[in-house]
Amino acid sequence: QFTPRVFSGIQPSGGLHLGNYLGAIQGFVKKQEQDIQTLYCMVDMHAITVWQDPAELTQNTRELAAGFIASGLDPAQSILFNQSQVAEHAQLAWIFNCVARMGWMKRMTQWKDKAGKNSENASLGLLAYPALMAADILIYHATEVPVGEDQKQHLELTRDIAAKFNNDYGVDFFPMTEPVIEGAATRVMSLRDGSKKMSKSDPSDMSRIKMTDSAEDIAKKIRKAKTDPEGLPSEVEGLTDRPEARNLVNIYAALAEQSAEEVLAEMGGKQFGEFKPLLADLAVAKLAPISTEMSRLMQDTAEIDRILAKGAAAASEIAAPILKRTKEIVGM
Ligand code: ADP
Ligand code: NA
Repeated sequence: QFTPRVFSGIQPSGGLHLGNYLGAIQGFVKKQEQDIQTLYCMVDMHAITVWQDPAELTQNTRELAAGFIASGLDPAQSILFNQSQVAEHAQLAWIFNCVARMGWMKRMTQWKDKAGKNSENASLGLLAYPALMAADILIYHATEVPVGEDQKQHLELTRDIAAKFNNDYGVDFFPMTEPVIEGAATRVMSLRDGSKKMSKSDPSDMSRIKMTDSAEDIAKKIRKAKTDPEGLPSEVEGLTDRPEARNLVNIYAALAEQSAEEVLAEMGGKQFGEFKPLLADLAVAKLAPISTEMSRLMQDTAEIDRILAKGAAAASEIAAPILKRTKEIVGM
């Protein structure tokens, strides 16, 4: 009964990295190519759950939009917009704050990781983050959300909120949204530590490849990436308990749009000294055109602002009637 519709978002908190690209953006582009409506959002209201310098937030939002477009998202095919420009997100989020339970929020691993030991001093928004995320998705009755593996728990919570709303009010109004976690690299790990995910909050610059890194930097980071003394196995079973080796194989596979099995069938037996330069060449071939196009787009920020304003208007057209109906259901 729900029309298939795709929504996803990324925080404009600075520095798109390879994890974002392989875990999320490549999947956004895949969905855009299908016969399905796609909405992609710069979630600036999520970004401010931790401190953001105002001028940098503005710059990062435009740069993220440029990153989306340079990666193949076409404003004529996908609705690209900035979350804070579509007021319905915040309005539905408040209603969801009253549906969701505190205990649900406190159980989220992202809350535990980000709030850390000093959680009494974290923003209230950081705790409520998943309710806003549920609103981002459900304000469009989105049925599918392409994301990296780290977002699986938040998607489950989105379904919990939808189910509780439907149950509390005796309606079948919000869909049970499915995460779309696809590709060979749904969880890209740090290049320095195979037990941590690649993240923009990692203090080590060598831990991640940024979309805007130069060819030299990409090659250097891959050359210095942590591995073990063994070479590449010819089957994936040979990657068991070798998180760093597995990570590099998965990155190669995702960049080549192959499976890890296919990569190993070809590369098995090589030493990392031989494999790493091939991986670096592939990463540069894929990322350099995107980063060149990003810089070109950033020369005309007024055009980016126009694209985002148009996107916000289009998004609002879908969101407004869904918010109106939600309020009626609640009795408002
Ligand atoms: P970050 O985690 O870098 O702050 P976001 O929280 O804005 O980025 O996440 C944006 C998207 O990128 C999400 O779909 C998330 O799952 C995905 N993502 C982030 N880091 C990784 C990673 N290391 N591997 C795969 N996907 C990732
Ligand atoms: Na994340």
